[in-house]
Amino acid sequence: MAQKKLIILSRRPELPSVVLLVEAAQRLDVTPVILSIDEVIVERVAKDVRSVEIRTQDGALLTPPALVLPRMGSISDEYSLTVLRAFEAAGFAEVNSAGALMHVRNKVTALIELASAGFPVLPFALLRTPSDVSAAAKKLGGFPLMVKFIRGAQGLGVMKAGDAATAEAIVGAFNALGFDVYLERFCPPRRSRDARLLVVRGKVLAAMERVRGRNDYRSNVHKGARPKSCEPTEDECAVATRVARHFKLGLCAVDFLRTPDGEFILEVNASPGFTGISEATGRDIAEETLRKLLGLRGKAKRS
Ligand SMILES: Nc1ncnc2c1ncn2[C@@H]1O[C@H](COP(=O)(O)OP(=O)(O)O)[C@@H](O)[C@H]1O
Ligand SMILES: [Mg+2]
Repeated sequence: MAQKKLIILSRRPELPSVVLLVEAAQRLDVTPVILSIDEVIVERVAKDVRSVEIRTQDGALLTPPALVLPRMGSISDEYSLTVLRAFEAAGFAEVNSAGALMHVRNKVTALIELASAGFPVLPFALLRTPSDVSAAAKKLGGFPLMVKFIRGAQGLGVMKAGDAATAEAIVGAFNALGFDVYLERFCPPRRSRDARLLVVRGKVLAAMERVRGRNDYRSNVHKGARPKSCEPTEDECAVATRVARHFKLGLCAVDFLRTPDGEFILEVNASPGFTGISEATGRDIAEETLRKLLGLRGKAKRS
């Protein structure tokens, strides 16, 4: 059944992908409510309430049915997930649940789950002590290697270390600052390509390649990579949909690194952006995504 009420949970409604979603919703005659996690109150006061109630700051009660679309990214904190859990308890339908977001926001727990379920991931090592870096690096295939934040996005916290001294310094410095990092085998840009598949409600809706900028080893659109349309392979589609099902994500992007040694899942992003993939495909992916999420018929117009 079509759902005509949409609540977008975002702390930053000015972000381009949120703006695209809001505009798309309006075109679909759905009135979106944009709420910041910090502006709602979750309460359990009245005895006759089944679970909890959710109010806006002016005291208005938010009531289901409505579809809640969380836009939180990997930096979603404990508080955001708690509020999202409350929406679920209050009877709202969610695109991605707090439990599902918990699993993928930490890249290493996601990699562990993916590896355990038999999905291809790059060799990685999680460690805390800088003097353990050299031995781990050898097993990963030597330098350069990647040192990455356990939780990061948009290429931030993805660092290439050319030698042991640099990797040890990065591990030591970030640990001291309270940022956990892990090591990962590096695939040189000339030998790898980066493909993103967008999965909505269990089906691949669109795909793109992200072509790195000249001076960067990262292919994030935020880091100047150029989005380009691409045809995903049958294998990639099958893996991406299985990954979405595994993590119970109604909306996600599954990123692959295509290398001569095969394809590896780089990360699973539960708040994927819509600008790059719309540019790559020449389609209005925000609108197509909303149609699928809300169960509306028809196809989006080509933009
Ligand atoms: N092990 C790797 N080898 C080569 N390139 C990598 C590797 N890991 C990441 N990259 C590049 O850096 C980009 C950002 O890495 P990713 O793990 O997706 O972090 P983020 O969550 O910040 O996007 C990737 O899209 C890819 O282009
Ligand atoms: Mg990424």
